[in-house]
Parts: sequence; structure tokens; C-alpha cells
Amino acid sequence: MYLGLDLGTSGLRAILVDDEGNVQGEAEAAFDLAHPHPGWSEQDPAAWIAACETAVGSLRDRCPKAFGALRGIGLSGHMHGATLLDADDAVLRPCILWNDTRSTTEAAALDATPGIREITGNIVFPGFTAPKLAWVRNNEPAVFDRVAKVLLPKDYLRLWLTGEHISDMSDSAGTAWLDVGARAWSDKALEAGGMRRAQMPDLVEGSAPGGELRPALREAWGLDHPVVVAGGAGDNAAAACGSGCLGEGTGFVSLGTSGVLMAGRDSYCPDPASAVHSFCHAVPGRWYQMGVILAATDSLNWLARNLRESPADLANSLPASAQAPSPLMFLPYLSGERTPHNDTRIRGAFVGLDVAMDRTDLTRAVMEGVAFALRDSLEALRGTGARFDTLLATGGGARSRFWLTTLANVLDLPLSLPRGSELGAAMGAASLARAAATGADPDSIMRPPEAAEVIEPHPEARGAYEAAYQRYRALYPALANAG
Ligand code: XUL
Repeated sequence: MYLGLDLGTSGLRAILVDDEGNVQGEAEAAFDLAHPHPGWSEQDPAAWIAACETAVGSLRDRCPKAFGALRGIGLSGHMHGATLLDADDAVLRPCILWNDTRSTTEAAALDATPGIREITGNIVFPGFTAPKLAWVRNNEPAVFDRVAKVLLPKDYLRLWLTGEHISDMSDSAGTAWLDVGARAWSDKALEAGGMRRAQMPDLVEGSAPGGELRPALREAWGLDHPVVVAGGAGDNAAAACGSGCLGEGTGFVSLGTSGVLMAGRDSYCPDPASAVHSFCHAVPGRWYQMGVILAATDSLNWLARNLRESPADLANSLPASAQAPSPLMFLPYLSGERTPHNDTRIRGAFVGLDVAMDRTDLTRAVMEGVAFALRDSLEALRGTGARFDTLLATGGGARSRFWLTTLANVLDLPLSLPRGSELGAAMGAASLARAAATGADPDSIMRPPEAAEVIEPHPEARGAYEAAYQRYRALYPALANAG
């Protein structure tokens, strides 16, 4: 049995799987997110431990026999968070999270450091870990002076589980301190942010062992044999592992609050200029790349809120299949833009409103706009040489047939809908635990799910969607100039 623990932004999800990856039990425990000032986003690491104890306790109660056969634990977590520890491993201040924007100035300064983008393979975004430490140095120098270790959120959970300071490559790639091509800490990147190598945890691959469950916890959990803790992964790499997206040609598109287009890569091909994220994968010798749009289902939720409708009712008002693009354009930059423009100031727009249009036209345009924004990410990823032989469609928005068929038409790619199995980051974490505990080849464990259905683009609509995408593309510079 293997335990996958996914430390999310609002709670921890735990799943227990057997040797074939079949789910034997699951449990969740929620925790809070604090916003003490506008743009700040913090969490108390003690809440993660409490959630882990609650979730593990309920799994033990629900499936005692399966839990008693636990051999490995895999960790997934929200990326980029800065958990600051003193020399006794005491937490120095609340963890500053991935969606905290206080370090915008520090991020811009680090991003301007000559050579930093070449080393880290990415723009230094304000959400990354390095600018957060620079902010602490500038604003809380007494705290900064006492930092003995910086751990990513899931690695703080590991410290509690194992007593060790260890991280994995995929999560560490989001710090802006890692040489992402070499899969090693970069002294140059560390020095740019005033950090030392001794403050970093040791590195392992996500599918390799990264500690053992401490004897005290083994006893408390009623286990009388060793339990390996895998290196684990940042949540996006873990989700890719959970969906079998490891190597070249594999990928997923996720219509969640934000939208993600992810590609597995067999080599390291960064392109920071197009705001593509290029990170180490959680398995050796592989990387992954992502284009991110900030408002996917969030765009539909925004429209629904303002029309006083439910997003599902709006989505259901559209036909089951999209045949031709709408004359109305929507640019989904409600919270700014990430890939490919990296523009935090830009905001959204409707272009082409007609007096005859109604809520159905607005809904359709919003869904198309999200699809066009994801096409921008597809072009940026293709620009690095990524290809998509299979593209899995995931996330809440994938429940809308209209959205799926629109997306297939706009991307001009078939979308594979997975059969209703567990695919998320917790499953990826459990798969990494299986690999670490058994030494099995990760490719044999993390296989793409069976497709329940494949949504094909309509070949006769290709020209019209392509022309519409070109119109969409031309609108960004006009909007940027207008703002
Ligand atoms: C990735 C990112 C988020 C977090 C939280 O760069 O910021 O996906 O990992 O889920």
C-alpha cells in the first residue's frame, strides 16, 4: 500500500492505493489561507501537520488493514511557498504562498540579474520563492538573519514525517535558485538573492527515496516495518504523474480556476521570453513545460456572477457541439495575463458587441476567449519544440461539451477524456511512492489513463477558427496600448 498526500492551498488530500494503483481509501482535511494585507497570502505550517494527522487518522479508521500494509508515502504540494526555519527547525514566520504578490519589486530586480533566466530557465515571477526571501531581507531583517533552512511546503511536511531536510527537483525548480537544466542548486542564483547553499535542503529525484518515516510516527500509526518517503513533486508535476504525462508527446489541458497547458519533455528547452514555465519533472531525465492563463473557469464564474446565473446554467444554455466561431471576442485577462505576454497590468475586454447579442452570445465568447488564450500557450510551447500526440482534457470546465468542442477546434487537436479514474496530484504522489518503494521504472507505473472518449476538431471549421484566432491575437497589442 502507498499513501499519496497532496498539500493543496485550501486543504490536504490523502489517498491510499494498492500495488496496481487502485484507490483503497481517501480522506481530506481543510485549512485556512490568511490575507493579512492586500496581495498577501500566508499559511501557518502547523495547520498542514494538523491536517495530515486528521487525514491519516481517518484513513486508518476507515481502512485499518490496508493502512497497516503501508510501504511508501509520496508528497505533492503547492509550489513556491517559503517556509522559513531557524537552526532548531522552528518556523520563523507564516509561510508566504505561491499566490502572494508582495515581492513584485524584488522579483523584477532578481529577474534583471544578468544570467538568471539562463540558469533558472524561467522569468523570476513574484510568486517564486527567491523574491520572497529578498522581501523578507528588505522588510523583516531580524527574521532573515535567523533563516537556517528554507523549505517548500510539502518538504516541511516531510521534515515532520522523516526529520530530514530534503526536496525534489520539480518543486525546487520553482524557487529561482535551481539550475533547472543541471538539476542542482546554483550558487550564482543563490548569491543573487543573498542566500547560501547551506540554507537549502538536499535534493533527490521525485521518484527516488527521500527519507523514511520516523520511528515515533511509525509507532503512533501502528506500523512495525520501514516506510519510504519518496522525493515527491510540486503539484503540477504530481498531476502530470497522476495522468501519465511524463515524456515527449504527452500533455494535458486543464480548465480550472486558472487554465494550464502542460507538455512532458525528454529534454530541457526553456523559453523564458514567452513566459512559458520550464521545470524539472518528478522523474529523472525529464522536464515539463506549462503555459498558464490566469482566468479559465474564473472567467465564466465572473460572467455568471454578474448575470446572476450559475456557471453550469450558462454553460448548459449552449449547444453540445461548437461548429463556428462567434463574431464577439472576449480577452480573458480579468486578473492580468501570464503566458505568453506576462502582463500583470492588462485587463480583459469584449470586442464586437452588437445590440442583438444576449447572455448566450456573451457566454459563448467567454468560453472561446479562454480557448484562444490556451491556443496562445500552445503556440508558445510549440515554439520550444513541444508536441502533443495526446492531450488529456481535465478540470471542472471539461464538463461542458461546448467548451470541449470549442477547445478542440481552436487548438486543432483531439482531446482525450479520461475514464472516471483518480488522476490528480494525490494519485501522482502515490505513484511516486510506488516507484520509490519498489524501485520500479516510473514509466511502467505512471501510464496515461484509458480514454473514455476522444473529442475531434471539426475539419470543416478549421479555417474559420484559425482566422478568429488571428483576430484574437491582434487584439492584445491594441488592448495593451489602450490601457
Ligand atoms: C505553479 C503555481 C501553482 C501552485 C499552486 O507555478 O504557482 O500551480 O503550484 O497550485
